[in-house]
Amino acid sequence: MCGIIGYIGIDHVEKYLIEGLKKMEYRGYDSAGICVKDDYLDVVKKSGGIANLEKALLDRKFSGNTGIGHTRWATHGAPNDLNAHPHLSFQSDIAVVHNGIIENYATLKRFLLEKGVRFSSQTDSEVLAHLIESFYTGNLEEAVSKALQNVDGTYGLAVLHRHENKIIAARKGSPLILGIGDSMMMVASDAVPLLDHTNKVIYLEDNDLAVLTRNQYDIMKINGRKVRREIEEIQWNISQIEKRGFKHFMLKEIYEQPEAMRNTLRGRIKGDTIKLSVNFDAEKLNRIVITACGTSWHSALIGKYFMEEILQLPVEVDYASEFRYRTTALAKDDLFIVISQSGETADTLAALRKAKSLGCQTLGIVNVVGSSIARETESGIYLHAGPEIGVASTKAFLCQITSLMLLALAIQQAKGKTISSRMINELEILPEKIQEIIANEKQLRVLAYRLQNATNFLYLGRGVNFPVALEGALKLKEISTIHAEGYPAAEMKHGPIALIDASMPVVFIAPEGKILTKILSNMEEVKARQGQILTITDSQNPKLQELSDHIFMVPKTLEIFTPFLTTVPLQILAYYIADMKGINVDKPRNLAKSVTVE
Ligand code: F6R
Repeated sequence: MCGIIGYIGIDHVEKYLIEGLKKMEYRGYDSAGICVKDDYLDVVKKSGGIANLEKALLDRKFSGNTGIGHTRWATHGAPNDLNAHPHLSFQSDIAVVHNGIIENYATLKRFLLEKGVRFSSQTDSEVLAHLIESFYTGNLEEAVSKALQNVDGTYGLAVLHRHENKIIAARKGSPLILGIGDSMMMVASDAVPLLDHTNKVIYLEDNDLAVLTRNQYDIMKINGRKVRREIEEIQWNISQIEKRGFKHFMLKEIYEQPEAMRNTLRGRIKGDTIKLSVNFDAEKLNRIVITACGTSWHSALIGKYFMEEILQLPVEVDYASEFRYRTTALAKDDLFIVISQSGETADTLAALRKAKSLGCQTLGIVNVVGSSIARETESGIYLHAGPEIGVASTKAFLCQITSLMLLALAIQQAKGKTISSRMINELEILPEKIQEIIANEKQLRVLAYRLQNATNFLYLGRGVNFPVALEGALKLKEISTIHAEGYPAAEMKHGPIALIDASMPVVFIAPEGKILTKILSNMEEVKARQGQILTITDSQNPKLQELSDHIFMVPKTLEIFTPFLTTVPLQILAYYIADMKGINVDKPRNLAKSVTVE
């Protein structure tokens, strides 16, 4: 999730670019760069945050008043200077900044290499600069339009040509907003950097291409057909829209989950086959060991249920902090999976290093590109969830379990078994079902209001929803500081039942499935002790309805996929309870986003 900016006007351009990038740094801080159009295209780019770029610009003077800039959240290629944007074309006539993923970049790259083009980065984005140049015959918008008709994937794009005083902007799948000013036009991934200069904006739609000159803008579809877009006046203030109108990053990230999950799936399902770039010997595989910490450990537990059911293979899950000091044996045909949003968690990294020293195959499921775990695993799956800023993990969790499901299906396929097309179809429509849950959040707000004064919560689930109970309890305790425990529902009678009384909310995760009747018995046991029951379910079972004090319904799905849907209401509930208690949800007490100490 990168940030792009462009300015064409009468002022020196660099201050517009740098200030704009600073406002979008939350979108990525792997590298930053600008290109100013003078007699030639002058590019300065640096790995790391905007501060590094500013240092590199200290002794530079520009006289141009047209330019583009970029702050990167790396997807393809490590976060270094070479992979930073803007990217120049082979003849240095064209500069491009890009936010998105070019899915057919390997094919396009081969085509360009055959034409003699030389590449200087490992990014998918660089192909765009060369491809546009290959179509250029004197009109930049025509060349961009032709190039984009050959591109599969997503983009928010800004393009310059050395001999034309204009910026071409285009969008598909990645946001892009035009800012309309006096004697100047701007373009950005977000409204925030525009607001210092104008509140008149145009939200580009998918497949729109805009031609910006100092006093004019023209918008057309990628195929050249002219379109009209309304100018809108932004009423918000900057502090609100830095979180895009959300009170906290956590809530924004909960809302982003349908899109984040689509990004994890994108390009990885082709018809009835799964395409993952992982390299381990799936045929010989006879055991899988997964380690992680915190929320990522919960997703590992869900992965265990997925893999045992789909692959009938033994799967062990361990806390990374325990695994690293345990005496254990791993064989060369074992697959060792580490899961980490940040890719920097110290215990997870140490567990990975231990597994490597024991000689087994390793695979990482990581969000942050180029992080230590991503670099040290032999192969991996990037989540493509975008930066997760809220300390409590939400969208990364959902994308981790998406990756684990894709991996289970890919191993099944590698073992020569057919993947059920029903499962694939259902997986692809889960983001819409998550959207439906989010659309019902008001009901969860009401529940949060009713339950906010409880001092203890119990979360109970069974089977693949047992880890969901653990995750629901962790979300609540970490952001609201209310004590909460998660248990397998049947374990309750071996101890936790002693805690149940009328003041104790018990959250049951109880979707339709083979053990629902057993959960109903556990509910009876809670009811007999006056516990208050909140049930997350997709079931119309009359007994369940009768035993529950509150019910939140989720859409129906296959039983194995229920965690994708049952987790989301628990995140929203925890968020609102914490917010109602006046806690800064994004910075919970004593916690840090990335735990790089033991
Ligand atoms: C809880 C949470 C933490 C992390 C844990 C591991 O909401 O975010 O429990 O899941 O610190 O972090 P990563 O996934 O970065 O290794």
